[in-house]
Amino acid sequence: MSIKNVKYIRIFDTTLRDGEQTPGVTLTVEDKIEIAHQLNNLGVDVIEAGSPMSSDGEKKVVKAIAKEGLKSEVCALARATKGDIDKAIDCDVDLIHMFIPTSPVQMKYAVNLTPNQVLSATVDMIEYIKRHGLKCEFSPMDATRSEMPFLKQVCQAAEKSGADMINIPDTVGIMIPKNMSNFIQELKSTIKVPISIHCHDDFGMAVANSLAAVETGASQVHCTINGLGERAGNASLEEIVMALHMIYKIKTGINSRLLYSTSRIVSTLTGLFVQANKAIVGENAFAHESGIHTRGVTVNPLTFEPIKPELVGRKRKLVAGKLAGTSGIKTELEEIGIKPTENQLKEIVKRIKDLGDKGKMVTDADLLAITSAVIGEVIAEEKIVDLCDLAVMTGIKVIPTASVRLVLDGIEYKAAETGVGPVDAVLKAIQKLTRNLVKISLKEYRLEAITGGSNAVAEVVIKVEDDRGNVISARAAREDIVMASVEAMINGINKCLIKNRKQVNKK
Ligand code: KIV
Ligand code: ZN
Repeated sequence: MSIKNVKYIRIFDTTLRDGEQTPGVTLTVEDKIEIAHQLNNLGVDVIEAGSPMSSDGEKKVVKAIAKEGLKSEVCALARATKGDIDKAIDCDVDLIHMFIPTSPVQMKYAVNLTPNQVLSATVDMIEYIKRHGLKCEFSPMDATRSEMPFLKQVCQAAEKSGADMINIPDTVGIMIPKNMSNFIQELKSTIKVPISIHCHDDFGMAVANSLAAVETGASQVHCTINGLGERAGNASLEEIVMALHMIYKIKTGINSRLLYSTSRIVSTLTGLFVQANKAIVGENAFAHESGIHTRGVTVNPLTFEPIKPELVGRKRKLVAGKLAGTSGIKTELEEIGIKPTENQLKEIVKRIKDLGDKGKMVTDADLLAITSAVIGEVIAEEKIVDLCDLAVMTGIKVIPTASVRLVLDGIEYKAAETGVGPVDAVLKAIQKLTRNLVKISLKEYRLEAITGGSNAVAEVVIKVEDDRGNVISARAAREDIVMASVEAMINGINKCLIKNRKQVNKK
């Protein structure tokens, strides 16, 4: 699909502003600067760095980002008041994004202004920004719930006052693509200034609505990494960009190969997990389990992959599970240098399916354990890292602390760490000790009690990712939660190291 005369769409990233408004997310100055650099490398056209009016700290961050000398334009958000705009100007940004509500409900209950007051504040404040020689992007907030004649009047006044871009916010995400197309078309017939689109995901249609706006003439899209943002979030940058590149054949400034690493950095710094089935950046976005799929992609990736994983910085993953097929499991084992015979492979597949039928998640550790049992090698027993001893301390007035002694490749080391609880402390101590062998990050930690009561057996399932992008799952079950966590972590690290070393040997 192509859109006549549209060659390039600008990407306005608001991860550091609307994204930071995600409930529960607060970023430090260092976090925001790190994300700004990543967005700059990714190639976004604009970085909305924050809202200087909200606090002195926020103003300092926006100013600091503006000073970084980034290629992307740096933008600050301001309400239509002199106080807010002066604070944004003070930050030396390239661009001010000024907003004021235009819907009846928000004019009355959010800012208590009459339509005439909204109109005159729009004109006065855009002129004020322009007199200071800055670019101005204007947002009539809640545009999609505004009365069209009034919205047109405000947009025309904004254009006349010198706004460089008019951004249309679907603030509470109530549009559907067809309505969005009509809406943008109608505005296009009244204003000449470029139109941008800003969609929220309350009904899960932020990306579809943004693309509908592009189809009818919007030349810029507001979006966030991982779809972060107020309530259900904003349109997700990675989905918008890949749809523009691959479905519409329209260019953006984005280097798509950095999408996954950017998503990981944002997820780590915000502490917000990305759902496994999220398009492009979710854990399962390039994972195949069922036999027909794994066989298909092994023979020809085009069978079940609309996007080449490398294009977004990912790797294909074939998953062992009850739906797994022989060829997928064979490929997975070959990846780590194991070549079972045909009969052995049949037995491995059968045992994996049996495990899956019992409702068990089949981890990489299970695959190795089953394989080792079937082919008689002690693959899963190989221990590059082993536990000698550990001690944990916790209490009401005590910072949870753990000290750990490990044997790494035959040599003993020890380390201590603190954490939010004993498990956090002990896992951090292990990661500290093993980071010279392999850098891993804990992606998932699940605790399940297998039997009832306070003496229940606790099963810990973890997922770790090493710096080569290998994701390994491991589990351990013990009556002691700390011990189960430690064992699962050490199992995971051993699996990563074995996989890493096999990959190196293969080259
Ligand atoms: O969703 C919204 O309306 C906003 C405005 C500040 C543009 O984020
Ligand atoms: Zn918003």
